[in-house]
Amino acid sequence: MSRRTFIAGNWKMNTDRAGAIKLALDVHAGLDASRIDAAVCPPFVYIDAVSHALRERSSKLMVGAQDVYHEPVGAFTGEVSPAMLKDVGVAHVIIGHSERRHVLHESDELIRRKVRATLDNGLHAILCVGELLEQRERGETNAVNELQTRSALAGLSADHMARLTIAYEPVWAIGTGKTAKPEDAQHAHAHIRAVVASLHGADIAARVRIQYGGSMKPDNAKELLAQPDVDGGLIGGAALKPADFLAICNAAGQ
Ligand code: PGA
Repeated sequence: MSRRTFIAGNWKMNTDRAGAIKLALDVHAGLDASRIDAAVCPPFVYIDAVSHALRERSSKLMVGAQDVYHEPVGAFTGEVSPAMLKDVGVAHVIIGHSERRHVLHESDELIRRKVRATLDNGLHAILCVGELLEQRERGETNAVNELQTRSALAGLSADHMARLTIAYEPVWAIGTGKTAKPEDAQHAHAHIRAVVASLHGADIAARVRIQYGGSMKPDNAKELLAQPDVDGGLIGGAALKPADFLAICNAAGQ
């Protein structure tokens, strides 16, 4: 089963309006979308402007959001629904990023609801899973990934699964410059795929794309992406520099 590589840039709480549009257009201009899928995920307030600028150029670069709320409408001050994201051209939604799990204290149950609402609305979800350093040191990496994956995937159909990407992001590697060794990433990805197979069967598991995230840079991307179960990357810091993000995209297409 060959899975098309998927590279997504998670801009987190960075850029301003003009900078966001410029960053997206620079990536658009350099992207060879014939070989890979690529998305940029600006802060909520800039999504509409970025999406508009890319649409005007009929860009293949997709737009993602960094979060969503699971309710469709109503009195949820500060929150944004899946339909609102769709309305402004969002295709993918990052859910359960470690900063939302550990800084904003999102629970597995909230993440499960967000994944379900996103997929029910026809959007694609990028579910993030990954262990903390102390969990890795206790040998709990696979157990943590399994728990987070099983919890978020509970009750999903085959149709939902066709729009789901998983991002394995070891928390100790995010924004730290420390990257998982390619063989450690492969080991974790293979285990996550086995968990998906146990829930949904081998065919669906073979189709699900699993991105690696955590200090992926131009100089380590090729080796990570060469692993059989590493199907792309969720890129933080390096996604803010068009040349670096494009170098990672190119490493993937090789
Ligand atoms: P990083 O972030 O590439 O800066 O480590 C990745 C992420 O948090 O998605």
